[in-house]
Amino acid sequence: MAVRHHIDKQYDGTAGQKGFVTILLPDSIGWADQVFVCGPVPMYRTMTTRYRHLLNTKPVQISLEMRMGCGIGTCYSCTLKTKSGLKQVCTDGPIFDLDDILWDELIYV
Ligand code: FES
Repeated sequence: MAVRHHIDKQYDGTAGQKGFVTILLPDSIGWADQVFVCGPVPMYRTMTTRYRHLLNTKPVQISLEMRMGCGIGTCYSCTLKTKSGLKQVCTDGPIFDLDDILWDELIYV
């Protein structure tokens, strides 16, 4: 197993690439067998809209953060639409396949 670690900038901003971490994706995706992502929903949206052509050939798992009322699957506040039906982040996740989420129907508050 090989692990590669990216840091998008140094604390003082004098080295590395500056900007959103998603700009590093095109340079990194080629060597990856799988992609594991943790971040905000807007970042996932950018990944799906801007880099779908690069990610289509890789398994991509994301960790979703949602507002949760109960955390045990009874209030439905964390429900989202997926290609395989309605899912609750608290009980079915928080890890999902990036491609399974219906991003156009996701309302994030
Ligand atoms: S937090 Fe209540 S159903 Fe998920």
